[in-house]
Amino acid sequence: MEAATDEAIRLAADHIRQGELVAFPTETVYGLGADATRGQAVAAIYEAKGRPSFNPLIAHVDSIAMAERLVVFDPLSRRLAETFWPGPLTLVLPARPDCPVSSLATAGLDTLAVRMPSHRVALDLIRAAGVPIVAPSANTSGHVSPTSAAHVYGDLSRRVPLILDGGRTEVGLESTILQVRDGTPYLLRPGGLAREEIEAATGIAVVRSEGDPSAAPVAPGMLASHYAPRARVRLDARRVEPREALLAFGGAPIRGIAEAARVFNLSPSGNLREAAANLFDMLRRADGDDVAGIAVAPIPTHGLGEAIRDRLRRAAAPR
Ligand code: TXA
Ligand code: MG
Repeated sequence: MEAATDEAIRLAADHIRQGELVAFPTETVYGLGADATRGQAVAAIYEAKGRPSFNPLIAHVDSIAMAERLVVFDPLSRRLAETFWPGPLTLVLPARPDCPVSSLATAGLDTLAVRMPSHRVALDLIRAAGVPIVAPSANTSGHVSPTSAAHVYGDLSRRVPLILDGGRTEVGLESTILQVRDGTPYLLRPGGLAREEIEAATGIAVVRSEGDPSAAPVAPGMLASHYAPRARVRLDARRVEPREALLAFGGAPIRGIAEAARVFNLSPSGNLREAAANLFDMLRRADGDDVAGIAVAPIPTHGLGEAIRDRLRRAAAPR
């Protein structure tokens, strides 16, 4: 683990160019990065995470110009990139015939997910490496995504030679994934950019595609059980059972709180941005062999609440 100084970023860029893995901060969650154009380096990501290789990766770019060497933009996707990049928005686009990204990263699809992150360390790293960097969240497959270098260290220290420490991530949820088809934006994954912001900027309704794969595209990685802590997670709880941990939200009263094993508040003031930033860290801290389960107070459905509730539903899904 190294503080993300300019020196450390240069070293990390050398690692990437030599085909090695580097964990680095983005504004959403930490990523486990490799040179997108080198099949062996990409294979090492799947191996380190224990991730199924049919689950494709996001290519991180430092500019729209770099993205254009990989994919073809339709007019709406271009407008979305111009409005929200750099930032927590991933666009799924047709790969160019001469796209240099390894087919292992796209899992053989003819589309590629691309995103320009806004974290300074991530941008400096891509720029210094001079290649697109594919990076899934830097956790072991199925585990909660990392929002600090310590989380990455706990999951992957033995498998990753270098972890750049850029402090806690600001957004705390993975990027929102969109795919435009015939001018309609489909939401493949709710995330750190709220649907309402996209709709306000474009004036076009965003269609939720999940649940009906025949009607609309889906992200292959959106397995029902994901983001799983060890303990059983219970949603929309208005009371805690003895020995359960509690994730509260705002000031709503929760019964049984005196007997809770641990209590965290995602945002005492009821702010969804703050709750998003705290979610994965508090899930990790609430989790443990000594708790009977994790009760989560009701979270609103609007704004970032959509993505927070999505992650909690997956954490609560039977496995
Ligand atoms: O915020 C983020 O997006 C973080 C940071 C590191 O950038 N990355 C991240 O990557 O969350 P990952 O690998 O954990 O999730 C990527 C998601 C998966 O659900 C995958 O199935 C989907 O993107 N995906 C990738 N390529 C796709 C494609 N061509 N079509 C549809 N879905 C795709
Ligand atoms: Mg992930």
